[in-house]
Amino acid sequence: MNETLNEIKKILNDANVDEANVKARIILREVGNLSVEDMLLQKEVQNKDEVLNFARKLAETKAPIQYLLGYANFMGEKFIVNSSTLIPRDETEILVNCALDKINKLKEKKQDTINILDIGTGSGCIACMIAKNAPEAEVLGVDVSSDALQVALENAQKLDLIKRVVYRKSDIFSAIRGSEKFDVVVSNPPYIKEEDYKNLDIEVREFEPKSALFAKDDGLEFYKKIIKNAAKYVNYDGYIAFECAKGQAGSICILLERNGFLVTDVIKDLAGIDRVVAARMILVSDEVDYTFV
Ligand SMILES: C[S@@+](CC[C@H](N)C(=O)[O-])C[C@H]1O[C@@H](n2cnc3c(N)ncnc32)[C@H](O)[C@@H]1O
Repeated sequence: MNETLNEIKKILNDANVDEANVKARIILREVGNLSVEDMLLQKEVQNKDEVLNFARKLAETKAPIQYLLGYANFMGEKFIVNSSTLIPRDETEILVNCALDKINKLKEKKQDTINILDIGTGSGCIACMIAKNAPEAEVLGVDVSSDALQVALENAQKLDLIKRVVYRKSDIFSAIRGSEKFDVVVSNPPYIKEEDYKNLDIEVREFEPKSALFAKDDGLEFYKKIIKNAAKYVNYDGYIAFECAKGQAGSICILLERNGFLVTDVIKDLAGIDRVVAARMILVSDEVDYTFV
């Protein structure tokens, strides 16, 4: 067994850090620069002091590893993160892939440029990965947090996407001009019910920004606010796609269908939870009846 791995595990276990084994291997990989193969071959790190100091910092702060590293891996890229941004989650890749699928459908209709709006962009992980994988996409990411937008901008610069990814401070649609319309609107909004605060992992509860996590109205606050006004901003035949939590997809589908959209997809994550809902705009904006939301 790798000696440094054992030492990291001891530091983390002594401090009662959750999932010490998994985190010890992440530290070896990310700080010690060991590949999975290196670990299987029980290779030793070249920077043992740095690795152990990192483990001690984790043991002391119990902060998410990604905040201590300053980045999170998402869809094969390293995204800068800090305490102003949610750490990108693996399941958000489902939303990105859903948006890419819709972009492909629109491309088949010979559209040259596809305009995307990402509401609650945070680190910009969704905006950037859509732009990176769809050269015809021009993406506007909005967020209420100026600090998050600063991080999002750095990520777009790092990935060389600033020609096609721009950011704007906006409370949902507040800074979107009436003349701006989008082919695909995506959002991974805050969706955790306020009463679920106590059930969250301590790392999430203590360190991730509350404004990125919680929503009123059984967690549906942002879906309602977005869907209520979406018809003004989504082109006819364009799409809207959301990430959501367990148990929310049904309510989101109803909201969408009452507001001019036809639900096209409800996609499960690896745990079998309905995680992404997508819908197509089937009415021109004047026809939408807002009375139901
Ligand atoms: C769940 S996080 C998603 C972050 C990122 N898109 C991701 O998937 O990792 C929700 C984001 O919505 C932002 N947000 C909260 N309230 C908002 C509002 N009223 N208008 C726009 N963005 C908002 C938060 O600052 C946060 O960055």
